[in-house]
Amino acid sequence: MKREPVQIAVEKSATIQPSDRARIKEQRPFVVWLTGISGAGKSTLANLLEQTLHAQGLHTALLDGDSLRLGLNKDLGFSDTDRGENIRRISEVAKLMVDAGLVVIVASISPIRAAREAARKLFGKNEFIEVFVDAPLEVAEARDVKGLYALARQGAIHQFTGIGSVYEPPTHHEVHVRTAQMSEQDCIDLILENLPTPVL
Ligand code: ADX
Repeated sequence: MKREPVQIAVEKSATIQPSDRARIKEQRPFVVWLTGISGAGKSTLANLLEQTLHAQGLHTALLDGDSLRLGLNKDLGFSDTDRGENIRRISEVAKLMVDAGLVVIVASISPIRAAREAARKLFGKNEFIEVFVDAPLEVAEARDVKGLYALARQGAIHQFTGIGSVYEPPTHHEVHVRTAQMSEQDCIDLILENLPTPVL
């Protein structure tokens, strides 16, 4: 018989608060959440952004969907339910990292608007910056860096975002970068302009 898990009330007795951890790092923690279809440029921009913030002396962490699917999320596929769980886990990890004082960069397709909004709700005001990494499907498909669009068109990959599975573009994002029209550096500059002042 499957038992329901016992709910245990956890006393929130930690005396060291997120703000104490941030203060010792002299930085304002937040999450920059890059969403967009495969091949839009999320990982490239996430890497460049981390390099830039790191060079400014900030303590960063990068949560990339592709990498997380090799470990933490390796039990998940690409059904709507699994993608929802993928985003839930990523957002909870990002929350732990923000509470630990880090500037966190997430790069994940995160195609479901409601899942991104649920992620946003975990964070305080100005702690969640959603960046729409926008490229038309034709452009992302023409780039096909990983060859996955070709496989999806051949029917070798099912539920591929933009082909067999929906991508819901954001409606309340803080930043919109159009990677088919803007240079990588212009995208980074626009993101940086819209971040909270990271140094305390
Ligand atoms: S998400 O939709 O659940 O947010 P996530 O960002 O973690 O996706 O992972 C997407 C990566 O998984 C893509 O960059 C691609 O390399 C790979 N992938 C494999 N199958 C699919 C698929 N059916 N749809 C989208 N991406 C896929």
